[in-house]
Amino acid sequence: MNLPMLDQAATSAPLLLENIPALQAEVRALARERDAVILAHNYQLPEIQDVADYVGDSLGLSRQAASADARTIVFCGVHFMAETASILSPDKRVLLPDPDAGCSLADSITAQQLRSWKRQHPDAVVVMYVNTTAEVKAETDYCVTSANAVDVVAHILREHGEDTEILFGPDMFLGAYVEKTLGCKLTVWNGECHVHAGIRPDHINAVRSAHPDADFLIHPECGCSTSVMEYVASGDVESAGVYMLSTGGMLDYAETHGGERRSAIVATEVGMLHPLREAAPGIDFIAANEAAACRFMKMITLPKLLDCLRELRHEVKVDASVADRARLPIERMIGIG
Ligand code: 13P
Ligand code: SF4
Repeated sequence: MNLPMLDQAATSAPLLLENIPALQAEVRALARERDAVILAHNYQLPEIQDVADYVGDSLGLSRQAASADARTIVFCGVHFMAETASILSPDKRVLLPDPDAGCSLADSITAQQLRSWKRQHPDAVVVMYVNTTAEVKAETDYCVTSANAVDVVAHILREHGEDTEILFGPDMFLGAYVEKTLGCKLTVWNGECHVHAGIRPDHINAVRSAHPDADFLIHPECGCSTSVMEYVASGDVESAGVYMLSTGGMLDYAETHGGERRSAIVATEVGMLHPLREAAPGIDFIAANEAAACRFMKMITLPKLLDCLRELRHEVKVDASVADRARLPIERMIGIG
């Protein structure tokens, strides 16, 4: 599979480095004036991460959105994240600086498809990744992120019984990771994130032979994750130094090992390298695949953030009847792990 390259046409012209501090100062001043909190995902451009109030993974961002005091939340991320914030804080204004910032994984299952899947499995508990539309969440029993998918499924099996059928979607690699970790069987939707699915075993083999002593941090959405788990299980890959982590878990790794001189291969979207290098400058972080850039995440630029704050535009609002049904699975997600 060829990885999609960052689509330059979808982003505005590159900013001149010397203009960044002035734009960031303007963003900060406007955010104060507008009583806005700026939340940014770990895959955002460095200059966006650096101007945000909070940078984190999907779980951390959802928790921040739920507890934000500010009147306005500006979400520097993708559409489903802004929707989740709006569902959790229906009285706040949630803005997304580019309304076209979508997600190929969220697009891989529709509410109609989920309804028909549920009809085929009427007794199943439905577990959906947070990377889904609000309509899909409204059909879901529990949402998960990569940081707590294992804990949520373990909780369901404890509460509902070991034999409970679970429909898990839409990411098939995350589903396989949960199955392998818990030794359970899930009914898994056949969806994927095009960026992570494109990080293939051959990329990993090449980068690992170039850096044999490096640790290996893998996001469970990656197309290589299933084979790495198999290599580890068969003993072909030494398990020490191999970590399956959400983006937040990768930051915990950086904080734990920050004082040591070591190198680590990072298999996820390349935006993650920025917060990792900031958190642990002594560690040599190496991208598993330099081309693994999410063009949706990179649609959020400083000029668009500034416009959105200035005009208070691109509000994301979820219809109340959908939001009311989608809130419970999200709250369950936030409460576990
Ligand atoms: P996490 O931040 O939950 O690890 O998610 C990765 C992702 O792909 C978000 O779009
Ligand atoms: Fe969606 Fe993948 Fe981009 Fe994350 S990296 S927003 S899962 S397309």
